[in-house]
Amino acid sequence: MRGRFITLEGIDGAGKSTQHAWLVEHLRQKGHAVVATREPGGTPLGERLRALLLSEPMHLETEALLMFAARREHLALIIEPALASGRWVVCDRFVDASFAYQGGGRGLAWEKIARLAEWTVDGLSPDLTLIFDLPVALAQQRLSAASPTRDRFEQEQTDFFERVRAAYLRIAAENPQRVKLIDAEKSLANINKLLEEIIATL
Ligand code: TYD
Repeated sequence: MRGRFITLEGIDGAGKSTQHAWLVEHLRQKGHAVVATREPGGTPLGERLRALLLSEPMHLETEALLMFAARREHLALIIEPALASGRWVVCDRFVDASFAYQGGGRGLAWEKIARLAEWTVDGLSPDLTLIFDLPVALAQQRLSAASPTRDRFEQEQTDFFERVRAAYLRIAAENPQRVKLIDAEKSLANINKLLEEIIATL
């Protein structure tokens, strides 16, 4: 049987990475074989592209193309083979991040991203996407508390993250079957309990 594909999304500072680690552990305890991975990245080439994307200034379309180049590699080498062999894939960000950041944040036309997605992903959709949502000011506080240094995206201003957040909310509203919107202001324990319930329905 094909494995399940779960993606986690949200603005920087939403606590997505903590929940990613928890979810992977939870699924392993339930006896699933789980591949924990992330975008951009997840392959040797993808991680090199990630390093460039997080540090090097570039044209917004170049940024989108490199995100999708890394994604193509990731799908071919990691995601598709894992799902085909029955393993579950839990991925920290996927296509929705391109719509939210390159589309919402940077203002690249939604239609252009949709075309890249169609070409790259070829119909593969996550079985479940968790979008961790919280006010931008709070996310910024959490980011500052977590680390003194910020990458190229984390250095963006409040209005950028407001647009990214709005795009994520739009994606959640337009895909109610696939996407669960999680109130990331809740305590870790409450969020874990909620995730447990959501996973049980898969
Ligand atoms: P992130 O998961 O925030 O990494 P970390 O938790 O280690 O900081 O991902 C890195 C950044 O990449 C994040 O700011 C969002 C950005 N990104 C895009 O802009 N578009 C994409 O398609 C993806 C996958 C990520």
